[in-house]
Amino acid sequence: MNNLIKTLFIGDVVGSTGIEAVKQFLPILVEKYKPDFILANGENAAAGKGITEAEADLLFSYGINALTSGNHIWENWKGKELLANCPNLIRPFNYPSGNLGKGFLFFENERLPQIAVLNLQGRTYMQTIDCPFKAADYALSLIVPKTSYIIVDFHAETTAEKIALANYLDGRVSAVIGTHTHVQTADAQIMQKGTAYISDVGMTGPYDSVVGLRKDIAYKRFTLQTPFKYQVATQEPRIAYVYFEMEIPSGKSNYIESQIFPELSRKRLIE
Ligand SMILES: [Fe+2]
Ligand SMILES: [Fe+2]
Repeated sequence: MNNLIKTLFIGDVVGSTGIEAVKQFLPILVEKYKPDFILANGENAAAGKGITEAEADLLFSYGINALTSGNHIWENWKGKELLANCPNLIRPFNYPSGNLGKGFLFFENERLPQIAVLNLQGRTYMQTIDCPFKAADYALSLIVPKTSYIIVDFHAETTAEKIALANYLDGRVSAVIGTHTHVQTADAQIMQKGTAYISDVGMTGPYDSVVGLRKDIAYKRFTLQTPFKYQVATQEPRIAYVYFEMEIPSGKSNYIESQIFPELSRKRLIE
């Protein structure tokens, strides 16, 4: 076995455009990085709100090994059923007990040691669920005896809460990958004690949009200050991801890079 676990983490997959982006671009990334393990956040896969068996099956068929989620997972009733039945889909661990689903999973196959994936959610400008720091301590007390390869999806709104949790977990987990804002941050790094980190991995979906939402609907929501039905945009599919390498046997990360593919334009396009 290789002495590294090469891992791809794909940011929030939004609607059918996001699923199409995975289908179209993931093979290119697989060719480039030869990952051992591929994760994606699927909280927006079903038309922006939640995920059902249909979207999960497609994402697994395209090569994704496990799915994390976040606040939007609860917005599609079929998602609850899926959370109860699908072994490779998790939701934030720190929702109050009694909710369906689980907050961490263990993945292994014939080529890999056991890898743990833990999903947590922040509380700043979000639901007032249980403390993600205390929840992380409790989850790690269950996970650490089993494996040193631990990937955390921290689904949160603010960069400060994400950076605080990442520092809290530095050296205790292999990676803390931020999700939820749909905008990739420029701070991918290996922290002092060997944890790979990014504040937000970004969105896999339609970039001609407002974080996935059709622009005309977003304008109405902001200017009229009343609700308008969510509809996913369809143009400019891109995949946002981080690639990182976990060292065997320490579980520390050696390398991380972040990308949006195809790249965003940094030049005016001449028509
Ligand atoms: Fe999202
Ligand atoms: Fe979210």
